[in-house]
Amino acid sequence: MTTENPQKKQRVLSLIQPTSVPTLGNYIGAMRNWAKMANDHDCLFGVADLHALTVRPDPAALRRQTAEMLAMFAALGLNKREENIVFVQSHVPAHCTLSWILNCYTQFGEASRMTQFKEKSASHADNVNVGLFTYPTLMAADILIYQANYVPVGDDQKQHLELCRNVAERFNGLYGPTFVVPEPYIGKLGSRVMSLQTPTAKMSKSDPNPKGTIFLTDTPDQIVKKCKSAITDSEASVRYDPAKKTGVSNLMTLLACCTGQSFAQIEADFAGKGYGDFKLAVAEAIVAELRPFQAELARVLQDKAYLEETARKGAAKAEQLALRTTQKAMKKVGLWAA
Ligand code: TRP
Repeated sequence: MTTENPQKKQRVLSLIQPTSVPTLGNYIGAMRNWAKMANDHDCLFGVADLHALTVRPDPAALRRQTAEMLAMFAALGLNKREENIVFVQSHVPAHCTLSWILNCYTQFGEASRMTQFKEKSASHADNVNVGLFTYPTLMAADILIYQANYVPVGDDQKQHLELCRNVAERFNGLYGPTFVVPEPYIGKLGSRVMSLQTPTAKMSKSDPNPKGTIFLTDTPDQIVKKCKSAITDSEASVRYDPAKKTGVSNLMTLLACCTGQSFAQIEADFAGKGYGDFKLAVAEAIVAELRPFQAELARVLQDKAYLEETARKGAAKAEQLALRTTQKAMKKVGLWAA
């Protein structure tokens, strides 16, 4: 029944919400490994602009950040291989068709149990919209529509992937094999980068202290300033001890991630030197690590025609795959194709 090419690589899919500029933590923990992942798998990288609507973003900001996220995918080279696809979710309307179908095969109780829904409706009590509630079924549609084998998920999305698997299995059980049941993708784990100001917490775009987070679009000046004001301790010795020297150890992790040096090497390099030199070295290493990416991003963002062409080409390739699954599901549930 399937006409798939047996030589085909496993398909990995990931969508990212364009609600803010990614952080250095996102870059080191995930993004910089994507290029390698995209070499070994057939990948889809999508900008989840429809999901972003659940928090009613400023329209101009949403447009800008959607384009910027797609540009970041391109700057990382994720669309180099013909088999890989970078796209914007709303450019492939079939996601909405399939998500409606899946809504009808997801129980109210199941969706109500989603921790993220409970948390978000508590923290945004003024806008508990239905989209927030059906967010996981749209996410399930994103995944199932491309017959993805693997989905890289952080802790906060594990429960959503589990729901997606349950819905896929239920549907397959009722109507026969329709969807690939996706697995979490366990790739090479990047290091966990902590806030520069509160090094016990993960570096996050929503850190209340803006000096704690380095954004991928920060200028070298901003990066130096943030590193200089990073929290350390009063011992004035560069030593890796994440329990007692949380701040210094986090900076060492950053330096190690950007230069490939070992902790022992770093300790030796900075023996007898103060934190001033050390922080500057960390900042310079970060600036150097981000430079090629930032230069490429600037180039892509300037080339509006290229970016638009990238979006169109990605949407066309994604749609071809998406329609195949959607039509299959439509037929199975009894939607009449006249
Ligand atoms: N909900 C995901 C997040 O906020 C984004 C997302 C939407 C996603 N659709 C997806 C992730 C499909 C993986 C697969 O991080």
